[in-house]
Amino acid sequence: MNTTTTTHLLLRTFTIEDITPQYLTALNDPTIVGLTEARHRKWTPQSATDYVKDSNQPGFSELVGIFLKDTKKHIGNIRLFNFHEVHKRVELGIMLYDKAEWSKGYGTESIIGIEDYVFNTLHYHKICADYYENNTGSARMFKKAGYVIEGVFKDHFYLHDHYVDSIHIAKFNPQHRQKEHTT
Ligand SMILES: CC(C)(COP(=O)(O)OP(=O)(O)OC[C@H]1O[C@@H](n2cnc3c(N)ncnc32)[C@H](O)[C@@H]1OP(=O)(O)O)[C@@H](O)C(=O)NCCC(=O)NCCS
Repeated sequence: MNTTTTTHLLLRTFTIEDITPQYLTALNDPTIVGLTEARHRKWTPQSATDYVKDSNQPGFSELVGIFLKDTKKHIGNIRLFNFHEVHKRVELGIMLYDKAEWSKGYGTESIIGIEDYVFNTLHYHKICADYYENNTGSARMFKKAGYVIEGVFKDHFYLHDHYVDSIHIAKFNPQHRQKEHTT
C-alpha cells in the first residue's frame, strides 16, 4: 500500500531496513508476544529478515509498519495476509512492539487507517482477524474499531498449562450491501 497518515500515525510498508535491535528484543519478549503465535519462535536478525521478506509478497501478504507521525518512531506492525481476490477478504494481524505506546488508542487508529486501504482502494468486502480469548486489549481494540464476533474456536490455543478459545472477528465494508438473513 502507499504511505498513508492518520491523526497520529504514519503507515507504510515495513522493510528489512526498518529492523532494529529494539524490534528484535520486543519479538522475543513474552510480555509483548505472549498472547500471539509469534511467541513460538526464537527471533534472530536472520529469522526476522526472512519473516519481513515473506510478509511482503504483493497479492499475498503485506507488512505495514506503524510509525508515530511526529517522531517517525516505529511502534508496531500490521500484517495483511491471505488476500482472496474472489471472495474479497483478507486477514489482519497487529502487534505494537513498544509497550509504552499501548492503551493510547494507536492500535484502534492503525486498524481503522488500514481499512481505508482495504475497503476504498482494494474494494474488498471483509477483514478477518482473531485473538486469544484472554487478550483483553485486543478484544477492546477490535470492538472499538467496529469488528463483530463471528465465532469461537473452542480450546484452540494451548497457553502454558491450559487451553484458551480463539475469538474470530470481522469487519465488513460499510459501502457494500450486506447479505440479508432470513430465518
Ligand atoms: C492488542 C494491542 C494491539 C492493542 O493496542 P493498543 O494501542 O493498546 O489499543 P487501543 O489503545 O486502541 O485500545 C485498547 C483498549 O484496551 C484497553 N486495554 C489494553 N490492555 C488491557 C488489559 N490488559 N486489560 C484491560 N484493558 C486493556 C486499553 O486501555 C484500551 O481501552 P480504552 O480505549 O477504553 O482506553 C496491543 O496491546 C499489542 O500489540 N499487544 C501485544 C500483541 C498483541 O496482543 N497483538 C494482538 C494479537 S490479536
